[in-house]
Amino acid sequence: MSASEFRTFMQGFPSGVAVLATLDQEGQPTGMTCSALCSLSLDPPMLLVCVGRWGRMRRAVEHTGSFTVNLLDGSGDELARAFASGRERVFDEVAWRPSRHCRLPVPTDHVHRTAECDLHSSITMADHTILIGRVTSVGEHDGTRRAPLLHGFSEFAVWRPGSARQRRW
Ligand SMILES: Cc1cc2nc3c(=O)[nH]c(=O)nc-3n(C[C@H](O)[C@H](O)[C@H](O)COP(=O)(O)O)c2cc1C
Repeated sequence: MSASEFRTFMQGFPSGVAVLATLDQEGQPTGMTCSALCSLSLDPPMLLVCVGRWGRMRRAVEHTGSFTVNLLDGSGDELARAFASGRERVFDEVAWRPSRHCRLPVPTDHVHRTAECDLHSSITMADHTILIGRVTSVGEHDGTRRAPLLHGFSEFAVWRPGSARQRRW
């Protein structure tokens, strides 16, 4: 089975979109768009993200030992494209601020929630690496609930709260 068949399969599984961010080996802010994000444990709170094995993000997180997970709102598609572009120094192009506790980069706009994580462990599997983060803080930007950005079928969409037929699982 080819990689493109597998990609087509996964496109049928829309997910939220986050920007992971940390500091690189030179202390510069660096980030990447990520939809492979999953909660792992409640006690203690842990999550996992999958990043390219040979990518900048893996090297930077393993160097710094912590990272932020920034959930994009429905207006964040341009930001998602920028952090998926492979360009260096995307943080030079966008507004950002240091996170509350670990002082790691957080994009100021188009983010509705941020988690700060300490790297617990990383597991390399084929061409990707699973980064397991211990969540040290979470916060909602400006205290309002905003519709999240989604990605599936090769396009961005916006979650419409209340549009699901059954509201509780
Ligand atoms: C909506 C969207 C979701 C993405 N999710 C992931 C992901 O979960 N893991 C990944 O490795 N790349 C993902 N990518 C691609 C990366 O953002 C892109 O390859 C980036 O340049 C990798 O950065 P790096 O080389 O610094 O690691 C995604 C791209 C888009 C547009």
